Amino acid sequence: MHALTSPGMQAALDLEERHLFPTYARAPLRVVSGSGCRVFDDTGREYLDMLGGIAVNALGHAHPRILAALRDAAAAPGGVLHCSNLHHHPYQGPLAARLAALFGLPRVFFCNSGSEAVEAALKLARARSRRLKGEAALKVVALEGSFHGRTAFALSATGQPRYREPFGRLVPDVEFVPPDDAQALLQAVDAETAALILEPVLGEGGVRPLSEAFLRTARTACDAAGALLIADEVQCGLGRTGDWSACRQAGVAPDLVALAKPLAAGLPLGALLGRDDQAVDFGPGSHGSTFGGGPLPCRLALAFLDAVETEALLPAVRARGEQLMSGLRAIAARREAIDEVRGRGLMVGVVLRRPASEVGQALLREGIIAGTAGERVLRLLPPYVISAGEIDRFLAAFEASLGAGLGAAPGAPGPKPAPDAGSPP
Ligand SMILES: Cc1ncc(COP(=O)(O)O)c(C=O)c1O
Repeated sequence: MHALTSPGMQAALDLEERHLFPTYARAPLRVVSGSGCRVFDDTGREYLDMLGGIAVNALGHAHPRILAALRDAAAAPGGVLHCSNLHHHPYQGPLAARLAALFGLPRVFFCNSGSEAVEAALKLARARSRRLKGEAALKVVALEGSFHGRTAFALSATGQPRYREPFGRLVPDVEFVPPDDAQALLQAVDAETAALILEPVLGEGGVRPLSEAFLRTARTACDAAGALLIADEVQCGLGRTGDWSACRQAGVAPDLVALAKPLAAGLPLGALLGRDDQAVDFGPGSHGSTFGGGPLPCRLALAFLDAVETEALLPAVRARGEQLMSGLRAIAARREAIDEVRGRGLMVGVVLRRPASEVGQALLREGIIAGTAGERVLRLLPPYVISAGEIDRFLAAFEASLGAGLGAAPGAPGPKPAPDAGSPP
């Protein structure tokens, strides 16, 4: 079996163990370079990247357009790495205009991460509701199982108690309803509601696409209550589902959209998109960010949008996503280890009957990087540039990993028995 560590790796791990807060359960893999959907560790071993830096590396690694934008930025005489938001630089305006056109929302606030984009959305919604409906109308409705980030307000709206509980009392007036429960939603979104926040495809909560009917109900409920519909598209937006906007793909136009992960092709950049009539609630001094929307991330984001458009990556995501899901469903028909395959585009979850981390570890041993979402869901978020051959390679390795090297407990699921001995393979 291939070693997962190089001699230098142990020393680096020792330093991390000694000096980092242990917030992450990391796999023993040190990534040093990459190209397309492949990354290489410090022993030169190649891995197929089916996680894409948790939905960040949508263009894969070392994409020529991104490298060219970086080279241009470095070569520009007197180029600035940072310019405060008290002044102007050439890239924020064009990027805001591009995002506005793609999402049908003309106002943009730039920040550095998904949590910050969500935080901005929730703050704006509360400020607006307080202004229009009064001090009592501050309620936020969110979904059970959702994930919106780690900052206080985003965490308060995250529908997974294990993330919230260690911190005690957080932002008040947040109510949770089950995903796809229209009745519960209609009851919760009332005159005192400032906003409903949802991920059109729940990511960290198990890769669960919301039904179009539920999204339509969300729109109707918000309209009736005078509340804002916030689409958290930090993970599922910007092409991941095969459309720029996962919410609009489902035929529903949100009032605010939070974006981040792939936007600047690997540099930190988040964005909140909203309407003109909301501008009054985010006037000068009301909100801000020192680093948000700096020249280099905005420049890379323009290159990212160019790449997705000129290389026709949205149809590619749809085609490769179908290939991946139908391949996984074919495996599920043969193997009892899989309960369900779900997702949209290249955002795919495989619900397993054993801990997903075990399968993830077996895949890593086979040179494949995959993620998990909760205990039993293997999460796949490969770059949009993944090829048909790379998907086939993943499918073969995945099926092999279901049987091999998992330290399978007695009675662990194996191949499904043939329905009858005479049926064709
Ligand atoms: C849907 C969603 N919202 C918000 C966040 C938080 O983003 P960040 O980690 O960039 O703060 C994430 C991160 O995984 C996410 O998936």
